[in-house]
Amino acid sequence: MSMSLHQYLAREESLHDLDPVLSRLIVSVSEACKEISFKVRNGALAGVLGLAGTENVQGEDQKKLDVISNDIFVDAVARSGSVCGMVSEEIDHVMSVPEELPLGPYLICFDPLDGSSNIDINVSIGSIFSVLPAVRPKRVAADEDFLMSGRNQVAAGYCMYGPQTQLVLTFGRGVVMFTLDPTTGTFLLTQENVSVAREAKEFAINCSNMRHWEAPVKRYIAELLEGKTGVRGKDFNMRWIAAMVAEVHRILQRGGIFMYPRDHRDLSKPGKLRLMYEANPMAMLMENAGGAATTGRMPILDVVPQKIHERVAVFLGAADEVELVTGYHREA
Ligand code: AHG
Ligand code: MN
Ligand code: MN
Ligand code: MN
Repeated sequence: MSMSLHQYLAREESLHDLDPVLSRLIVSVSEACKEISFKVRNGALAGVLGLAGTENVQGEDQKKLDVISNDIFVDAVARSGSVCGMVSEEIDHVMSVPEELPLGPYLICFDPLDGSSNIDINVSIGSIFSVLPAVRPKRVAADEDFLMSGRNQVAAGYCMYGPQTQLVLTFGRGVVMFTLDPTTGTFLLTQENVSVAREAKEFAINCSNMRHWEAPVKRYIAELLEGKTGVRGKDFNMRWIAAMVAEVHRILQRGGIFMYPRDHRDLSKPGKLRLMYEANPMAMLMENAGGAATTGRMPILDVVPQKIHERVAVFLGAADEVELVTGYHREA
């Protein structure tokens, strides 16, 4: 029988001094993901599809499931008594824990529902989370308290609602995967020592934006497309799921590189994806799986944010490929 998430956390507490409060936070995240998973499974039957009729701070039309998932996360995490502030893609500023509940020593950032455009077409979606240590533990946190680099993360992960619901987690000691047993509602450990090969033959990028990319990205992709007879001397395959969770999951399973570069349409935006609850947690997972993650200019985990919803360019996955495209940016 596989080990449950609870048993795994207990093992980490005794073997690696994992803080039981952090353990409790991860359990609360897993409970939120389980509840979201049940809603996702029922789709139209649970009345969770379609638009909410509101817009978030990013200027995106919120789907009902964006809002529902956010509420589930906020509720579960607040009750855990392990955080003193929460940042969500769907909410303008840091959220505090209701007064009657205890405050904890951690900060959490989450993308409650990633891949929103996939919700209504029944294609893989997910939730992403990043845990930071609070500089002022157990004191109500402000936006500024979150402005530290991703190197400070003490835990990060995502849950994917695909054909199976899987929770993928790191505490900075490698990457582990759990699969939700839908009959018992328990997350069971199904893979340890997840690793990403240095070389790759598969890439993911939204090519519809090609005309807007910067020169180094155009060069890198053009070379991949040349195939066997080109400078790279081999053929590359391409995938695009439009949910970062699913792209990262594929890379953790069978390798490859994922890119969401900045583009020339709006140079005030350094990219599309959000640093604190999309890029940072995925970068921590990648580095812990032996892969790499950069903005094209520097490691994602070294970026010190100026604001909580800051955006960033993302190149992550197979170390050799990420180094190559990062090198092209450096040369340019
Ligand atoms: P979200 O649904 O949380 O707003 O994130 C969507 C992101 C990311 O998951 C995905 O990689 C990307 O947007 C898809 O972008 P395109 O619409 O350009 O395909
Ligand atoms: Mn969104
Ligand atoms: Mn997202
Ligand atoms: Mn989202």
